[in-house]
Amino acid sequence: MCGIIGYVGASTSGRGLDVALEALRRLQYRGYDSAGIVAANQDGLSHVKRAGKLEVLEAQLEAEPLPAASAVIGHTRWATHGGPTDVNAHPHLSEDGSVAVVHNGILENHAQLRRELTEAGVKFVSETDTEVAAHLLAHAYAAQGDLTDAMTSVVQRLEGAFTLLAVAADNPHVVVGARRTSPLVVGLGEGENFLGSDVAAFVAQTTSALELGQDQVATITPDSVTITDFDGNLAEAKPFTVDWDASAAVKGGFATFMDKEIHDEPNAVRDTLLGRTTGPGGALQLDELRIDESVLRSVDKIVVIACGTAAYAGHVAKYAIEHWCRVPVEVELAHEFRYRDPVVTEKTLVVAISQSGETMDTIMAVRHAREQGAKVVAVVNTMGSTIARESDAALYTHAGPEVAVASTKAFLAQIAATYLLGLYLAQLRGTMFADEVRTVLAELETMPAKIQSVIDGEGDIKALADSMRDVTSVLYLGRHVGFPVAMEGALKLKELAYIHAEGFAAGELKHGPIALIEDGQAVFVVVPSPRGRDVLHDKVLSNIQEIRARGARTLVVAEEGDTAVTEYADKVLWVPRTPTLLAPLVAVVPLQIFACALATAKGLDVDQPRNLAKSVTVE
Ligand code: AGP
Repeated sequence: MCGIIGYVGASTSGRGLDVALEALRRLQYRGYDSAGIVAANQDGLSHVKRAGKLEVLEAQLEAEPLPAASAVIGHTRWATHGGPTDVNAHPHLSEDGSVAVVHNGILENHAQLRRELTEAGVKFVSETDTEVAAHLLAHAYAAQGDLTDAMTSVVQRLEGAFTLLAVAADNPHVVVGARRTSPLVVGLGEGENFLGSDVAAFVAQTTSALELGQDQVATITPDSVTITDFDGNLAEAKPFTVDWDASAAVKGGFATFMDKEIHDEPNAVRDTLLGRTTGPGGALQLDELRIDESVLRSVDKIVVIACGTAAYAGHVAKYAIEHWCRVPVEVELAHEFRYRDPVVTEKTLVVAISQSGETMDTIMAVRHAREQGAKVVAVVNTMGSTIARESDAALYTHAGPEVAVASTKAFLAQIAATYLLGLYLAQLRGTMFADEVRTVLAELETMPAKIQSVIDGEGDIKALADSMRDVTSVLYLGRHVGFPVAMEGALKLKELAYIHAEGFAAGELKHGPIALIEDGQAVFVVVPSPRGRDVLHDKVLSNIQEIRARGARTLVVAEEGDTAVTEYADKVLWVPRTPTLLAPLVAVVPLQIFACALATAKGLDVDQPRNLAKSVTVE
């Protein structure tokens, strides 16, 4: 996720730069590891870009202002390809400086296009996928002489999810944007027009907007907006009026970042899978996993190290990776790992999971593991973070920035990424046939839509939370992959609603925790698919009956069609049918929505819960 802004005005002035900086300030929640701006006027293009937060760019502009401009494009980055450096920051210019582009998304075929351009003599300066678009656009612009035509021919060669904005040195009166899957909206002004990754980019200037459809190109000048499709034909865009205030716009119209980020979960999973599921011959490819294949084949143990929600993602992954790879997987809390003198050798593969990539407990555990000779793969959401840099390889989740302190979309993305890692290892080690891997990948690719269907039913879950606003204790039960989901559901309620909540393995109940059950005790039960493994489902059904017989209020998360649960449930939260190992990707969503809604009903600060920090950078 990145924030982008495009502006074109009737005169050459400082307004474009002011508008762009204001937009980038509002768009920082979409990415903040680097930022840049291009100014276009009759003298051509001038640009500045810097790694670091926006204030680094602002300081640079203070010291060396860009010239007055009639067209401006700007970008605040959440790195996906190429670390957060000055060179990798956007904008990216063509070799001859004739065009500049900013980009939000992932160009899946960038490697192949980079090879073609390099063979044609183009000299790349950055590690990004975006630079490919700058060079392609320059070649097309030189041949066609029109920026819209050039953009139209370039986007036909791109694969993946992208929003591109471009400006040309010899025409400072037009900005052209194009979108496929990544967002782009048009802001309509008086003698000026805007393009933005969302309305937060220009809501301070205008509330009159156009929503672009899939595969559309928008050409804006000071007094015109033209929409075409990727074949160059005129197309329609839906007008709308932004009814959010500026702060709501930053949250995409949602009341809290947490609510926004839960709604972003389908994209977080989709983007994490993007460009990784099929390589040559349909095999799974993980280019970024730069560890020698022979080393990966020799691995005799996998140790996941993480904290909090990331650790629960690791626990979910354990079930899948052991099933697929037939290698023992231990999941260790990072802060316990290095103090217990773990057995780690050069045949141990350590997987460090972290949203921030800066959790000190996990950093120290990574260092310890490497000192013991283990190879370390980081599964992190923040490009260029310490854990990524100190590991042997990094497999990034592409969840985009997670602003709310309590982790939601990153959890799902971590499961998706560790599943890709497990499938890749199984493919490499031969413990799964290629067609088996492809079957699971195909199932994974259906998950964003299934997650969306759970989110679409959030009203029912929010009503349940509202009715329980005075609850003082909630228990969570799960079995198999549902057990870490129960643990994560309890953590969400603790950290958001400050309520005692505890997760248990359902089978553990009769070994003590059942003493907690009394009349009216609320208990969430995550029920596995009745079509899944062995008798998991029936055993959990027995657990529900055990607690119900003792007065529990049973709140059951079950898959659609599993009518066996209804007679024992006070409330059923239905989720779409999924294979057993993929169920956590939908089963956790009602628990996240419930915790967020209950905290909201209690009037608590959902995004910044008391006592917590987004990244715990102390041991
Ligand atoms: C999750 O809701 C918490 N905020 C916390 O447990 C978090 O998952 C943990 O601190 C690990 O953070 P990381 O993923 O950035 O390493």
